Amino acid sequence: MPWDPDQYLKFVDHRTRPGIELLSRVPDFEPHTIVDLGCGTGNLTRLLQERWPDADIVGIDSSTEMIDRAQRDHPDMRWSVADVASWEPSEPIDLVFSNATLHWLDDHDQLFPRLRSLLSTNGVLAVQMPDNWAAPTHRIPAEVLGDGTWPDAAPSALLRDRLARPAEYARWVQPADVDLWRTTYFQRLSGDDPVWNWVTGSVLRPVLAALDDADRRRFSDLCRERYLEAYPPDGDDFTTLPFSRLFIVAGARPPG
Ligand SMILES: C[S@@+](CC[C@H](N)C(=O)[O-])C[C@H]1O[C@@H](n2cnc3c(N)ncnc32)[C@H](O)[C@@H]1O
Repeated sequence: MPWDPDQYLKFVDHRTRPGIELLSRVPDFEPHTIVDLGCGTGNLTRLLQERWPDADIVGIDSSTEMIDRAQRDHPDMRWSVADVASWEPSEPIDLVFSNATLHWLDDHDQLFPRLRSLLSTNGVLAVQMPDNWAAPTHRIPAEVLGDGTWPDAAPSALLRDRLARPAEYARWVQPADVDLWRTTYFQRLSGDDPVWNWVTGSVLRPVLAALDDADRRRFSDLCRERYLEAYPPDGDDFTTLPFSRLFIVAGARPPG
């Protein structure tokens, strides 16, 4: 299931902003080792390096396309192709950072305690995940795929909400102080079919990859029509797309 860096970067400002806001909530400390899990094209890894220029930083991603792009755009930094699910560092990590990636992984009840266990004594885990499953962006393709007209190996199984309730994350990263919040961004997108273009760069990628050409066209036509109804353009070539995200920053509990 390859990633397309160009499609993903079409909305680079909207996709990067939550990562910048996540980074701004990482407390002031001096991490020596940092990993960016699911670093993609490395834009945020670069910001980690700008904030902590002396730290040993590595960007990890399972997509060779994304890592090739990161390597091309940031040749002075360290990149590695690896699956977060099985990645093991050789030493404890001071900052584990992950923006818009962990919602692709299963079993958060095991994943989050494991990531917490990778931290050094005063380490910090900072995570942001899209949390828009109840909205038409995600509901519409799920309803379209649920109409009974698709191949048996229904790609609807690929559209899965893996997020748990926020309180569960607070429990899974114990013992730690936890900052948990949810933000809805009212994204102003321009051009034709902006919502379709947004989801095809992220959540719908596995579904599109599983459909043949004819089904992909039919799926695209049905979704685009419904997206236009759910998110009508404002009349000035802009469409407002509300999009919610969950943020988790867990760090060592301060003494006392
Ligand atoms: C939406 S992009 C986010 C990229 C970057 N963090 C950013 O905010 O710009 C999600 C990234 O997660 C990566 N990814 C998804 N599942 C992964 C896994 N199991 N292990 C490593 N990377 C994964 C994808 O290859 C993709 O580059």
